[in-house]
Amino acid sequence: MNRYGHFDDDAREYVITRPDTPLPWINYLGCEDFFGIISNTAGGYCFYRDARLRRLMRYRYNNVPLDSNGRYLYVKDGDTIWNPSWKPTRTELDRYECRHGLGYTQITGQKDGIEVCVRYFVPLGQNLEVWDVRVTSHRPAGRQTQKISLFGFLEWCLWDAQDDTTNFQRNFSIGQVEAQKNAIFHVTEYRERRDHFAYFALFGADALGFETARDRFVGVHDGLDKPRAVLAGKCESKLTLGWALVGAHQVDLDLQPGQTKRLHLLLGYCENPQNRKFEKPGVVNKAPFRKVAAALGSAAQVDEHFQKLKQYWSDLLSHYKANVPDRNVARMVNVWNQYQCMTTLNLSRSASYFESGIGRGMGYRDSNQDLLGVVHLVPERARQRILDLAATQLSDGTCYHQYQPLTKKGNTALGSGFNDDPLWLPLSVASYINETGDTTILAQRIGYADKENKDRATLLDHLEISIAYTLKNRGPHGLPLIGHADWNDCLNLNCFSQTPGESFQLAGDISGPKARIAESVMIAGLFCAACQCMAEIYELTRKTAKSRALRSAAEKMRRVILKTAWDGKWFRRAYDALGKPIGSKTNKQRRIFIESQAWSILGRVGLNDGKALAALDCVRQQLATPNGIMLQQPAFSTYRGEYGEITSYPPGYKENAGIFTHNNTWIQIAETILGRGDQAMAYYLSICPAAKERQIDTYRCEPYVYSQMTAGKDALTPGEAKNSWLTGTAAWSFVSISQYILGIRPGPRGLVVDPCIPKSWSGFSVQRIYRGKMYQIEIKNPRGVCKGVRSLTIDRKAINGNVIPLNLPGKQVSVVAELG
Ligand code: BGC
Ligand code: NOJ
Repeated sequence: MNRYGHFDDDAREYVITRPDTPLPWINYLGCEDFFGIISNTAGGYCFYRDARLRRLMRYRYNNVPLDSNGRYLYVKDGDTIWNPSWKPTRTELDRYECRHGLGYTQITGQKDGIEVCVRYFVPLGQNLEVWDVRVTSHRPAGRQTQKISLFGFLEWCLWDAQDDTTNFQRNFSIGQVEAQKNAIFHVTEYRERRDHFAYFALFGADALGFETARDRFVGVHDGLDKPRAVLAGKCESKLTLGWALVGAHQVDLDLQPGQTKRLHLLLGYCENPQNRKFEKPGVVNKAPFRKVAAALGSAAQVDEHFQKLKQYWSDLLSHYKANVPDRNVARMVNVWNQYQCMTTLNLSRSASYFESGIGRGMGYRDSNQDLLGVVHLVPERARQRILDLAATQLSDGTCYHQYQPLTKKGNTALGSGFNDDPLWLPLSVASYINETGDTTILAQRIGYADKENKDRATLLDHLEISIAYTLKNRGPHGLPLIGHADWNDCLNLNCFSQTPGESFQLAGDISGPKARIAESVMIAGLFCAACQCMAEIYELTRKTAKSRALRSAAEKMRRVILKTAWDGKWFRRAYDALGKPIGSKTNKQRRIFIESQAWSILGRVGLNDGKALAALDCVRQQLATPNGIMLQQPAFSTYRGEYGEITSYPPGYKENAGIFTHNNTWIQIAETILGRGDQAMAYYLSICPAAKERQIDTYRCEPYVYSQMTAGKDALTPGEAKNSWLTGTAAWSFVSISQYILGIRPGPRGLVVDPCIPKSWSGFSVQRIYRGKMYQIEIKNPRGVCKGVRSLTIDRKAINGNVIPLNLPGKQVSVVAELG
């Protein structure tokens, strides 16, 4: 519970009870091709597949007030106008509630006895969103019938969101709409090269009027808080060409005391075949819209679709359920973390309140990591994503850093040369195979992005070339070259940029001899982990010689790390373009970074000689705060061209000593590898969103999903979060808590039971669907230890070791593990 809301665990909803949250708190609609983002005050927009190229609604990022365009319902009751979502009028409400659920948001506002409740969702299998509206009069019996006017309103985006916000000389003259009874069609550019249009249509009531021009509905010098048409209680029902297009429907309602009236609006996207674009010359073929109207025109149909959506999420979340003693852990691991993982799968880093939808496409490293959080939920989609990603790898092993979801083509402007990129593929493929057992994916022919189709390399070829790329591109110490950057996009050791506005990632030469000096210890550790994944894949496919070769390649790299990157108490981070260490006691300001501690340990370096333990102790002493672990200390206080973007941020923010929650999860895992369950859990809780309710006015972002970053101790606002929703923290947190802390981990030969928990936990249980069977796993901790399975019984029979064999009979497996 906090001042703004609370979890409703049974309903799987976050309930916001006042609209003026510290920042807009948002949710996502849609799980397939049609998506929307929606705030607790109904702000946001929707799009078909690509947030840049197929944007339906216009949204003004960075507007004042923040988040002031969206899916609005206006009520005119006498001389008062208000919105159930509070914005944009911000008329004070008698009651307000927003429920963000899984794939839907329901906002209720009440004023002077009239309640308007609207539930927004995207039905499965449809390219549209529903605004399901209930209007109720709570006036006492015996009072008169109440007459109110209700207006549904949105502003159209002219499809390409980038062009829409810049090219006014053209765009103010191209807008086009059509209208029918109760339906407005947005058809800009349809008459020329587009084959798609959008609609905004009303069902369950007759519209008294409609509006299509923003200037008429809102006014030129007026704001959305005082739209002229609403104040006048009248729409002009006219068509428009050019300027800014809107869709608005007016409904007048007579409500008896106690009466509820229901209506709904559909906002959606349609495509027509090229040869059937028009039903009459110049008139858009509305056949696809008529199909939608037939499928979703009635309230009963809307209800049925909503139930299907609820069922979809219940089914998905039944794949993994943990019963644990900590309430915040339970709500994250069972609901919100998995929900966020699906969102990062769908949206990558494209559209949020911090990502404008016109910037980044699908990131190679981002999307590979996002898969780790969803292979257990949607294995078929994970399979396809792996193949799409691999198809953007080039034949020398490097990868396009990003690709566009609509075309699936690599983004040439950004190109390749981020030298960690190739190594995330072995991790995602191993995770997919460990989950599903499907090794046939390895033989899939995908080819390289720069090669003709005839020479179509298999996925296994891609994996091998990823390893080979790293081995081939090593620097003077034998560590992998960093290229533009490794996971830390802001450690740009070859950029030396002095030109304002130049991209840190693209500046500098990464192909000449000078670029063959800067090296990354993090990539070295990642390489060891990737080799481990590959070795297991080879063993599974009976290629023992290859497996042995990779294990020995990893072992060699471990020795290189120990020899060249051990700094005495922790692992160095990198070597710069002059060959000088970064993240070392020998730096002028003795420095320590998080990523190389984490990945050396995840790569199994220094586990038996005390080095890993020493490094983690330094992390705790020098980097940990109650809000999570900072990326490095001390922060950079001046700009340093030889280090790049990391030094561009003010101290304490983002990659400059901010708490970058993504890499915190790796330290959590590292702690479990060393058996320190109390420390792992303390770190988990230090960044757990649900645990932030207690300090929400400082934290500010949504307490139900991870944010990319929390300001570190050097910042002016320590503990303040930014960049919520689209972050690799989602997938890795789920891996950390479910596979390493709670410790049920899919392996090549079955589920591994290997928890590492706080000593005070007396036990917990996990229910998990795995390769077609339901596992009920009970963990008992009678001796109060952190780690170590002492006995394992399966269907009441004791077995050796801690791996549940795959070939057990039946569909239900009951497992009891005792720690101690
Ligand atoms: C951010 C990084 C991000 C990068 C993407 C930088 O400005 O700080 O977090 O990965 O941009 O290009
Ligand atoms: C966010 C980017 O999306 C991701 O690719 C990168 O690893 C982190 N920032 C760290 O810089």
